[in-house]
Amino acid sequence: MAYIVTSNCQDCAFTDCVEVCPVQCFYDGREIDRMLFIHPDECIDCSACVPECPVEAIFAEEDTPESEQAWIQINADKTLGGELPVIAEKTDPLPTAAAKKEKLGL
Ligand code: SF4
Ligand code: F3S
Repeated sequence: MAYIVTSNCQDCAFTDCVEVCPVQCFYDGREIDRMLFIHPDECIDCSACVPECPVEAIFAEEDTPESEQAWIQINADKTLGGELPVIAEKTDPLPTAAAKKEKLGL
């Protein structure tokens, strides 16, 4: 079991989540996918990141909504290869973040 980042993060990447992660298991996928990902083998299931996300993008695998289930595999695929860098410090969100957040009604 692990926590995963889902579609609400895409075009947002607020990065509040990375600051509270005790094991630094967030990876920076902004360049290609415009979002972050969680490494499933490194996440210790502490749930600290969940309330930090302004667009409610993070779920425990077993609580992931049906429509977001594909992201379980995508988080694994994107992080297990080791190509993406760790991100552990908060940065500015993507320029599209405010518009995406509004579109989500959050
Ligand atoms: Fe990090 Fe905990 Fe979130 Fe896993 S659940 S990504 S260990 S903050
Ligand atoms: Fe993404 Fe939310 Fe973190 S938008 S970068 S999961 S704070």
